[in-house]
Amino acid sequence: MKTFALFFILVVFVESKIHVFDAKVTTIPAQRGTRLYFLTNGNEADLKLFTVKAEKSHIDTNVYAYSVPRPDGSLNPLTITADDDTVVLTRPDGYTTPVSVYNDTFTENLNVFPVFEKSSLQFKAGKNVYFAVDQPNGKILTIQNLKIDRQSNGYLRAYSLPDKSEPEPYLFFDSEIKTDVSVFQQLDIPINQFSLDPVFDGVTYTVSFGDFTKTLQTSGLIMSPGFPTTLQPSDVSYSVKRNGDEQISIQLNPHFYSAVPYETNIIVHYGFGVEQGNSLSSQLAGKLVASGGINSVEVNSIGSYAIQYFSNSTATYSKGSTVPAGQGTTASVMTTTKSSHFIPIGLSMFTVVISLFIC
Ligand SMILES: *[C@@H]1O[C@H](CO)[C@@H](O)[C@H](O)[C@H]1NC(C)=O
Ligand SMILES: *[C@@H]1O[C@H](CO)[C@@H](O)[C@H](O)[C@H]1NC(C)=O
Repeated sequence: MKTFALFFILVVFVESKIHVFDAKVTTIPAQRGTRLYFLTNGNEADLKLFTVKAEKSHIDTNVYAYSVPRPDGSLNPLTITADDDTVVLTRPDGYTTPVSVYNDTFTENLNVFPVFEKSSLQFKAGKNVYFAVDQPNGKILTIQNLKIDRQSNGYLRAYSLPDKSEPEPYLFFDSEIKTDVSVFQQLDIPINQFSLDPVFDGVTYTVSFGDFTKTLQTSGLIMSPGFPTTLQPSDVSYSVKRNGDEQISIQLNPHFYSAVPYETNIIVHYGFGVEQGNSLSSQLAGKLVASGGINSVEVNSIGSYAIQYFSNSTATYSKGSTVPAGQGTTASVMTTTKSSHFIPIGLSMFTVVISLFIC
């Protein structure tokens, strides 16, 4: 059932360079230099029955030969070596194993990674593209322990892959938004595929399945499922860990889906029940900076969002955990409809500054 769900998603959001291998025979014209990457979590015996032929390039093989990652987790592509060739993919009768094909002809230093339930993929130099081929229950794609070494020219920009409703790659994370931050504990990426700009040095990270962020740490990314084109109402509260009654500051840099106008409320909850709502338009970009005794940040949207956050809290977290002990039971979805109001009392104790730029 899990694999069926993934298969369905890939069919619906078929990206221009992805071919879902669902018919009995699929015939695709291909040029010299085209590289085909086979994405599947099917088993060896089944995949050996799925054949791949390209006559002019003298290719007569099976999907299994190309679907097993190398030791670093990336796929070995099948490369077309003749002009005007035709690739013929044949699915054996009665086999429903989902197989899709990603192709590329032009990108140099391309690494394509299938992400399995147990994957733990390290940075590899080049342009990296990731596909969830498993769908472990409740888990999402994540980038963990991202470290940027700017002295080695490190940076990271992440994009959703194009689909029918958004034909261009859509930026959702840019390490250069705040250049004095070099460690990000976790980026939540609840989408099935994403790409990272070519990077050759100065970056380390792990891509794997993980849990949604519930508590903001010092820096990271929170994202609504299906960003950017899945627009749906959501109301999620992220707790913030502080040491005692420490005063902290939090910076939020949202990315919205600017092709569609909608509002997102970011409500900062302080101690003593004080809260402040801020309504942001999807067609404006900018940042929100709040400081004071912040307990949680609530994001209430009717569209989609990816928000980079930065906090100066000195509270520490157990390694590898996004939910500190005692915080895991905090309700992550709230039903309050309160938003956009302002309590002036005690204003000197907290401040919120929003800077907006037209996209
Ligand atoms: C490669 O992708 C293009 C779209 O970018 C598609 O038209 C073509 O059929 C694909 N070729 C193969 C061999 O998958
Ligand atoms: C974090 O920022 C707040 C607000 O600007 C400030 O009062 C606090 O001292 C800062 N904490 C640290 C550890 O720098």
